[in-house]
Amino acid sequence: MNEAELITFFKDIHAHPELGFAEKRTTAKVLRALRAHGIRTLDTGLPTGTIAVVGGRRPGRTIGLRCDMDALPIQEETGLDYASVNPGVMHACGHDAHTSIMLAAATLLKAEEDQLDGSVKIIFQPSEESANGASRVMATGLLDDVDEFYAVHCYPWFRSGTLGIREGAVMAAPDSFRIEVRGRGVHAAQPFKGVDPIPAAATIALAAQGILRRTVDPFSPAVLSVTHIAAGSTWNVLPDSALLEGTVRTLNPQDRERIRAELRQLSQSVAEAHGCTAAFHWGAGPAAVINDAALCDAARRLALEMGFRVERQEDTMGGEDFSVYLEKRPGAFLRVGTGGGYPSHHAKYCVDPSALWPAARFFACLAMERARP
Ligand code: NI
Repeated sequence: MNEAELITFFKDIHAHPELGFAEKRTTAKVLRALRAHGIRTLDTGLPTGTIAVVGGRRPGRTIGLRCDMDALPIQEETGLDYASVNPGVMHACGHDAHTSIMLAAATLLKAEEDQLDGSVKIIFQPSEESANGASRVMATGLLDDVDEFYAVHCYPWFRSGTLGIREGAVMAAPDSFRIEVRGRGVHAAQPFKGVDPIPAAATIALAAQGILRRTVDPFSPAVLSVTHIAAGSTWNVLPDSALLEGTVRTLNPQDRERIRAELRQLSQSVAEAHGCTAAFHWGAGPAAVINDAALCDAARRLALEMGFRVERQEDTMGGEDFSVYLEKRPGAFLRVGTGGGYPSHHAKYCVDPSALWPAARFFACLAMERARP
């Protein structure tokens, strides 16, 4: 695959975005391209996505290169001539670029297969946005032999030709919570005859912020947001219950566990103080993405050698299910500058196609270097 073919491929899948586990057209296109280059694939048994394998002719290590393929339920407003033709669905997180970069990297590795020690597994992962694709891919067992994992992600605040690399926690563990405060509904004129859940819910929402201030080291980033409050349906009836939902974002497992425990305790105690009960549900997301320091050094050295500008990857409290792979083996989540000027998940998010080919070359070289015994 050459640069022109890569950009054509990218524009085509940008125009045809598909949601998680519905990436059928994208998968078919990737498989066709892999086959055309004589690249072997493994049957994951999943509805979409695939794993390509290059190498295995000479002894060495096994390197995993991971991209994600799914789009978002957003109506595109970029005005690009290759904008989404699927109403309400858009590649607004650059997964089209990731897929294209790793496909091109696979073809570059295939062209160098005689020189390749060990092997490279290129993971075309479905359904990242739902945060359940990685665990399904990992559960196939097809990646048990991988020694190191690398992921690519676009970054709109660096221009093309820049890589963002940093060791340590680069993405947070995105957990969710749901608290149902139960009281006893009654006529609004007679609150003393029922148990009003609304003051309890309001107190929980306010007091929850105190958990961060008093239980988390100020040098350890953590976020707690109450994002949804619902109770009652009219002005003259006190409801039976009130609902609170939100998210907790942490970078280390101790904070994660402590905030979960404190929030549960706080909900139950505050509810009880108001004569209510609280049902607490915790929705555990993927763990934080923690980049290996030595592997980041290796990636940085190679990037500089290849003429990239290398910037410090910025912190974000967003989440990524790439951590599922990193819980098994070390690796690094690396950022590719793709310009564009709009944040990801924005209707005007776009990727500078000139960033793709250099990134494909970088990941191919990185895998080749790291696969050496
Ligand atoms: Ni993404």
